[in-house]
Amino acid sequence: MGVFVLVGLAHPFVPESRWLLIHIFTLGVLTNSIMVWSQNLTERFLQQRLPESARPAQLTRSRLVNGGAVAVLVGQLFSTTAWHWIITWCGAGLMLGAVGWHAWSVGKLIASSEHRKRFRPVAWGYVASAVSLVVGGCFGAALALDLRGAWHQRILLAHVLMNVGGFVGFAAMASLVVLLPAMWRIRVSPAHPRIVLGVVGAGLALAVAGALTGGGRVLGIGVLVYASAWVWALQTWLAGVLSAMTRDRFTYSSLSALLAVAWLVASLVAFGTSALLIDGFLDPLSPPTLPLLVGFAAQLLIGTMSYLMPTTIGGGPAATRAGLAELNRAGVTRVIVFNLALLGWLFAPSSVVRIVCSLVACLCLVVFIPLMARGVRAQRAVITDHAAARGMRD
Ligand code: HEM
Repeated sequence: MGVFVLVGLAHPFVPESRWLLIHIFTLGVLTNSIMVWSQNLTERFLQQRLPESARPAQLTRSRLVNGGAVAVLVGQLFSTTAWHWIITWCGAGLMLGAVGWHAWSVGKLIASSEHRKRFRPVAWGYVASAVSLVVGGCFGAALALDLRGAWHQRILLAHVLMNVGGFVGFAAMASLVVLLPAMWRIRVSPAHPRIVLGVVGAGLALAVAGALTGGGRVLGIGVLVYASAWVWALQTWLAGVLSAMTRDRFTYSSLSALLAVAWLVASLVAFGTSALLIDGFLDPLSPPTLPLLVGFAAQLLIGTMSYLMPTTIGGGPAATRAGLAELNRAGVTRVIVFNLALLGWLFAPSSVVRIVCSLVACLCLVVFIPLMARGVRAQRAVITDHAAARGMRD
């Protein structure tokens, strides 16, 4: 996140700044978070904590992913040279190998768990997520070559679909089925998560097939099938939220999670519909990168981390409440300002307004970094106080 902020501030002087910022966020921030949290949440969902002896292998995977990501970024910085793809391919190989290893290791854990565990089917979403990144990353490596004719656009669409729809989408669906009701303190979630994940997978496969074969209609139908699974989940959660609406349930994380899903649905319905109407030649179709990465992925990531970090650190209800309170500072205002700024960034007619809106939206997200530090400090203080009080009693 720190590197992202620095490159963002210096972006007028950085070559390939759009590509670089997108991939510092997706390869650096998103990939690391999804790998760490998918492991943590799989263990929690299965109520099966791995022994400490399994942790060094996770650390090795994390180092490989980060080493590979740095090589991919460096490779693309030299994109004007004829040999840059060699660095990008080595980095992608390292990174995708480690992500494949992660998928195998999480899959092995799920397969060995008890079948009666309620969230066992949901955890398979994390395996689908990692497998999607392996496939989507290969499309990315192919894009590093100068592809001929219509192939560049076809592979680009498949790359974005696999990585954002598959890698981020599967992980988001698996997590939200359990976390969104917890954030809103409701009991409602899609009754058949296995079917929802299945529809997500079928829609994605259709959309990628459409993109690769240049069939706009197949691409459009696939994207709309994919979106329909999210619409189903969203309306289930909304019904639950509306039936138990009290002011204290409106927090930074609960609102961010809900609105992030709304951005995903809105951008995919718009994109799927334009693909349906275009049919034939896919060149005029640009992927909705900004709403997907900022409205959906970034908003969801910061929102869920604001909930997950204090609840994972734990230390008793008072300590968790202290951490949550810091991360929820001006929570509702931050969510409203962020979403309005993103609308301005996307749709304002004046370029000056768009730049101002982009800065405001990024600021709303970046505030998470100091708040996280304050939250950890506040939570640790309560834990230390409790330990000291217990020591005095003993
Ligand atoms: C091995 C990893 C990856 C490699 C080698 C890679 C490579 C690339 C390349 C070369 C492009 C440029 C396409 C062009 O010429 O316009 C691109 C675009 C893009 N990539 Fe990746 N990528 C990787 C991972 C990811 C991940 C994990 C995500 C998202 C989760 C992602 C999201 C995107 C998006 C949204 C675009 C379109 C950018 C735009 O609209 O300008 N990529 N990628």
